[in-house]
Amino acid sequence: MTALTDLTLIVVSGKGGVGRTTVTAALARAAASAGKRVLIAASSPADRVGGLFGRPPVGANVTSLAPGIDAVNITPEGAIHEYGLLTLRSELVTRALFENRAARAFLNAVPGLDAYALLGKAWWHTTEQQNGRRRYDLVLLDGPASGHAPLMLRIPDAIVAAMPKGPLARDATAIRALLRDRARAAFLIVTLAEELPAREAVELATVAGGELGLPLGPLVVNALPPPDADAPELAPLLDRVATGPDRSWSPELVATLRLAAGARAHRRTADHIVADLRDRLSLPVVPLPRVLATDLGPAEVGQLAERLAAAATV
Ligand SMILES: Nc1ncnc2c1ncn2[C@@H]1O[C@H](COP(=O)(O)OP(=O)(O)OP(=O)(O)O)[C@@H](O)[C@H]1O
Ligand SMILES: [Mg+2]
Repeated sequence: MTALTDLTLIVVSGKGGVGRTTVTAALARAAASAGKRVLIAASSPADRVGGLFGRPPVGANVTSLAPGIDAVNITPEGAIHEYGLLTLRSELVTRALFENRAARAFLNAVPGLDAYALLGKAWWHTTEQQNGRRRYDLVLLDGPASGHAPLMLRIPDAIVAAMPKGPLARDATAIRALLRDRARAAFLIVTLAEELPAREAVELATVAGGELGLPLGPLVVNALPPPDADAPELAPLLDRVATGPDRSWSPELVATLRLAAGARAHRRTADHIVADLRDRLSLPVVPLPRVLATDLGPAEVGQLAERLAAAATV
């Protein structure tokens, strides 16, 4: 068993809004606590990563967010340019290749290429050297949502097939090898214990683990509703309020019990969905609690990081 935090690259995906960025930040914290040097590579116009560490939004330049944790927010255009630069190591060639109109038109016509530039840049950071060793032990790619992730992950194969020679193919081959190497990489799916995200998680796991041949990380089930209302000692009261409250109960008590009954139903639905996910995907499940805060920050990220560190092996 390898700890997730011992890997070199983790690509995080899942349905939009399920907590990919939050889980990425928590993983970064868990890895940094284990002494790793981590880079979070995000690509989001509304950049939440900085705030999760109590810092301003992260820009296109690598910035430090916490000891051992750097982050960069990559724009597709910037990534294409910069990845071109990093790959081809010449501004001139990059301009000719990526910025001339015909080339741009061609590249824009390749679906998923923008996302591939993001993947390419994240991969490049796994190889980046500083003081004679790798600058980062772990690069976390806060990746595209389920709908776009497979597109991004297919591009290395498409490049190798279309142009087997040259720097693009050389890197695409290395990226492909890294993504499929379970000793170094994992594709991590985040979901909520809700119907639609769970369905997308199953579809994504099927494509990523099947056709794409990627080693899957554990399934992170984020923001689980609290189990408190499902305590056995509450059951008689909560069952009773559903069938017909006692006349002697005050309206306040009835309202409170109805609230608790709702929370219990919510948690039970979530438990069923998690059980179904366990049946359908042979993946370890890492449940993360819904934390009680309107604006998540370093304290909540730390809380989630501890859960991940305790559970997350591949
Ligand atoms: N465990 C949690 N407990 C409570 N709230 C959470 C939890 N995880 C995420 N959230 C909240 O859910 C919302 C979505 O989280 P986040 O931005 O991490 O999701 P995302 O998948 O990255 O979304 P997007 O698709 O917009 O990139 C945020 O408001 C976040 O604060
Ligand atoms: Mg996000």
